Amino acid sequence: MVVGSLLLFIGFPYIVLKSVLSVLFTFLTVYYIVDQFLLPKLREKPLSSYKGKVVIITGASGGIGEECAKQYARLGSKVVLVARRTEQLNRVKENILKNYSRVKDEDLLVVKADLTIQDDCKQMVQTVIDNYSKIDICVWNAGLGSLIEFSKLGDDIQIYRDNMEINYFSLVYCTHLVFPYLIQSKGSIVVISSLAGKFGTALRTSYSASKHAVQGFFNSLRHETKDIQITIVNPGFILTEFHDNLKTLDGNKVERNKGNFMTAERCAAEILEAERQRRRELIQSAKGKFGVIVQNIAPDLVDFLSHKFASSSVKK
Ligand SMILES: NC(=O)c1ccc[n+]([C@@H]2O[C@H](COP(=O)([O-])OP(=O)(O)OC[C@H]3O[C@@H](n4cnc5c(N)ncnc54)[C@H](OP(=O)(O)O)[C@@H]3O)[C@@H](O)[C@H]2O)c1
Repeated sequence: MVVGSLLLFIGFPYIVLKSVLSVLFTFLTVYYIVDQFLLPKLREKPLSSYKGKVVIITGASGGIGEECAKQYARLGSKVVLVARRTEQLNRVKENILKNYSRVKDEDLLVVKADLTIQDDCKQMVQTVIDNYSKIDICVWNAGLGSLIEFSKLGDDIQIYRDNMEINYFSLVYCTHLVFPYLIQSKGSIVVISSLAGKFGTALRTSYSASKHAVQGFFNSLRHETKDIQITIVNPGFILTEFHDNLKTLDGNKVERNKGNFMTAERCAAEILEAERQRRRELIQSAKGKFGVIVQNIAPDLVDFLSHKFASSSVKK
């Protein structure tokens, strides 16, 4: 009798809990599948709609930006190539004209700008409007990385300021400048953040903070406007010059193990697809996707894995 009551006492809450968890798990699984696979397909814009669209790409003088420029130009968009190195921007433009016969000289606009300087940003946006009268898509891609051991930092935090200037403040200011044009065109902003904007990792206190800042800004901005689509992209390791230009305390280059790095071409193709499918976020690695799902349940496990993967990219 006593044993029976005890079993009932323990068993009933157990059955209720099991049922609640199984309903919750089924709901979340169905929601995830619909949100990640079904809705993006239903929302997908036709490729033909990119013809004549005005696309600004910052950091188009190489790497991910250069590949995005090629792929938007191939779709018939008018592409604005922005960076500081004009000779590299002209190289990108010439390459596109050589490889895609349907792209005309007037479809590509080279604009030299140091995006950490507000006057350059203003001039850049004005040049786009003077030439094309509208703005449809902004790919905020220009950025700078760093690898710093915090305990070895001296009294100078300039690298932290440099990371914030280009990776965060330049995006805030440029977004402010293009905002009315994007509202008018019901356009899109594609923000190239990083997995370092999702997770903390050793040596990235500066870089990671700047990329977290970007996520906070654009995730909040999304609440303020329904007229502009915001897609935040979080690449893993991509094979570009980025890794040769990383800021370090001694100014030396860090040797990387690049064997598993994704190509910039594939990275750009996924970025265009994410914008086209009106995704709010793109995580560009399976490990990253896993980390994002479990980080609130098992943060120490995610820290462990994130540390392991990030340090394996640096040659000892
Ligand atoms: N490669 C990776 O593994 C990786 C991973 C995650 C996220 N990301 C992010 O992806 C974005 C693109 O990086 P990437 O890999 O393509 O590197 P990249 O080849 O070094 O490209 C960086 C671009 O930013 C431009 N840039 C830097 N400072 C600038 C400034 N002050 N004003 C204007 N343009 C500036 C550079 O052009 P100029 O030097 O000609 O100005 C260059 O075109 C960055 O935001 C980076 O944080 C990269």
